Amino acid sequence: MGSAIQLSNVVRNYQLGKTMVQAARGVSLEFQRGEFTALAGASGSGKTTLLNIIGCIDKPDAGRISVDGKDVTDVPLHRLAGLRNQYFGYIFQTFNLVAVLDAFENVELPLVLAGMPAKQRRERVEALLESVGLANHRHHRPQELSGGQRQRVAIARALVTEPLAVLADEPTANLDSKTGADIIELMASLNASRRVTFIFSTHDHHIINRASRVIWVSDGAVREQAPAEHAGAPLLRASGTNP
Ligand SMILES: Nc1ncnc2c1ncn2[C@@H]1O[C@H](COP(=O)(O)OP(=O)(O)OP(=O)(O)O)[C@@H](O)[C@H]1O
Ligand SMILES: [Mg+2]
Repeated sequence: MGSAIQLSNVVRNYQLGKTMVQAARGVSLEFQRGEFTALAGASGSGKTTLLNIIGCIDKPDAGRISVDGKDVTDVPLHRLAGLRNQYFGYIFQTFNLVAVLDAFENVELPLVLAGMPAKQRRERVEALLESVGLANHRHHRPQELSGGQRQRVAIARALVTEPLAVLADEPTANLDSKTGADIIELMASLNASRRVTFIFSTHDHHIINRASRVIWVSDGAVREQAPAEHAGAPLLRASGTNP
């Protein structure tokens, strides 16, 4: 079995008026199934750019990307939606739940779109709401839930299709630190119990320290990769000694 996701020399440039921003400058990375990985780095370092390319939301200007052993670099934009539904679950900073649907229906939606029969959908959604601690909140709409509860619904929704990887762009940025820590613990326990692959971006040190792999991004490039216990090191000696 090959790697789940592989990026080779990925380049992404944004044109901003007359200047060109190099948001990814030749990034090569490999992700295996079952990882619990943080993309860490300062604001503007290129974390979202990389997550969007990893998740087939955006395409690189140069370089290759393969997902589940298949090179998807040349798949046209209009066909990427199918790949996204097949391979990825997404968790966003702002939760992105559908306001008129309750918790159950939000989690169920990807399965409805995938054409799964109702009985199977119900079993899967109920089990997931249970595992994120929201079995008793199934009829609550997003505005009737706390921030942490909304993010739990989003986590259940991301997992419901049993994706290759769940990608989370600063999943705790809109939560207080205690609730954010609870959300990361929930993700860690789902990673351990269900072997769900998580790749998440953050600049919060407490969250970086919970990752089992940390990829430090700076100025559009990968600077350092380390297990979490060494996560502080690149920052501590950041001034002057980084390449
Ligand atoms: N659509 C865009 N147009 C122009 N420049 C962009 C665009 N998106 C991102 N950039 C630039 O690319 C660089 C990387 O941005 P990116 O959003 O990937 O950073 P980030 O690490 O996710 O930051 P943050 O922690 O603030 O979310 C930044 O310099 C940013 O200004
Ligand atoms: Mg970002």
